[in-house]
Amino acid sequence: MNLSPVDQPPADALVLFGTTGDLAKRKLFPALYAMERHGRLDLPVIGVARGTWDEERFCQHVRAAIAAAEPDADAATVERVMDRMQMVGGDYSERSTWEAIRDALDQHGSSNAVFYMAIPPDMFPEVASSLASVGLNERGRIVVEKPFGRDLATAVELNATLHEVFPEERIFRIDHYLGKESVEALLVFRFSNTLLEPIWNRRYVRSVQVTMSETIGVEGRGSFYDEVGALRDVLQNHLLQVVSLLAMEPPVGASAQYLHDEQAKVCAAMVPIDPTQVVRGQYVGYRDEPGVAHGSDTETFMAARLEIDSWRWAGVPWYVRVGKGLEVGAIEAVVEFQSPPRLLFDDADGPPPDRNLVRFRLGSRDGVTFALQAKTPGPSLESQQIGVSVDFETALGERQGAYERLLADAIAGSPRRFARQDVVEHTWRVVQPVLDAPGPVHPYFRGSWGPAEAERILADGDHWFPPSV
Ligand code: BG6
Repeated sequence: MNLSPVDQPPADALVLFGTTGDLAKRKLFPALYAMERHGRLDLPVIGVARGTWDEERFCQHVRAAIAAAEPDADAATVERVMDRMQMVGGDYSERSTWEAIRDALDQHGSSNAVFYMAIPPDMFPEVASSLASVGLNERGRIVVEKPFGRDLATAVELNATLHEVFPEERIFRIDHYLGKESVEALLVFRFSNTLLEPIWNRRYVRSVQVTMSETIGVEGRGSFYDEVGALRDVLQNHLLQVVSLLAMEPPVGASAQYLHDEQAKVCAAMVPIDPTQVVRGQYVGYRDEPGVAHGSDTETFMAARLEIDSWRWAGVPWYVRVGKGLEVGAIEAVVEFQSPPRLLFDDADGPPPDRNLVRFRLGSRDGVTFALQAKTPGPSLESQQIGVSVDFETALGERQGAYERLLADAIAGSPRRFARQDVVEHTWRVVQPVLDAPGPVHPYFRGSWGPAEAERILADGDHWFPPSV
């Protein structure tokens, strides 16, 4: 049986590994600033950096990262963040580095730290066992970034390795999409609006599409990205988490256990993807990016057709699509409903009514749009599409960033927005046939919607919905 960890005691220090990397720069330091601004940062932060960095360079780096993300950052708040920060430098392979981290924690009187691994996944085992070599595995919890493993076998193996030194309740697996307010809103929107539940099934839903499109390329992360590709980078984790929230049954409570149980159930009902129902693409110019292997066939785009063989969803196609270098940046889920009977409209000159859509915008300007039909003014019984739309920020106010929420959760010891191992393993099982037989990559131009071949996986009469931004 898979048991989700229950709430853990709050942490008294935060140790960040990978402070010189991209994730720390783009997300973690700005998140620390946001936490400070909201009065939610109340503990020392120890940044672990390579031996060639000194304190001054480290501080400049942190300040620059905050300034890049928050050009109008409040100077006093930045100073308060800097006052909490301390750098420990050194080589991961030397015991003295780990002793220095332990000494720094001792100085702060810490007995329960968060060890945040913003480092390449292949370093997780080494860092976990090095923490254990100086007894730090007994003094906190470990937070690991996705991708968790490279496939099903390595995810199982990594889990076993981490379990050698950390018990399950002290392993927090990050998928930052679970920390996005807009993604969590799916759960609340679905289960707090009773009008949706009767139609949220195979009887009324014709198809579901989830698109995560980015205009950016690999942006200096070529050597990381080339080893993973779109499937491991975002589809197996972010996208399938979104699918699970859209498809799952109502949890019986809000605890981590109840939520994770329902996610695991729906992920268990996902059928391993048929590789013939997958199209991989690579943007033209990708092979010239720094860090990318000559002649690489890593995909920067993937479209796939999924099936969920449950009573609620059997027979409904779930189309997912992710890519870099695409026409617009958007994260959207579109639920398309069956067509209405058409007799009433047969005599009208116009086309039959469009199908209803519920379109969840999950990226910037998140919100929801219902595409409904309304009578076209005039004598005939024609209808046309109208959008009933809400922008959640305008309606509801400012939202917190995903990393701010997840860092705060990791510090508070709340596991609810972290991924449970059985869910991670199910999602690897779902994509494993594609890892085993990936098929060719089709080139596409930046600024397009990916390779035209992506149409091939759609059922007759279906088309990709362009995101609404
Ligand atoms: C990360 C991926 O997990 O998510 C990146 O590694 C991707 O490649 C990023 O750009 C997208 O996150 P967001 O929050 O901007 O949608």
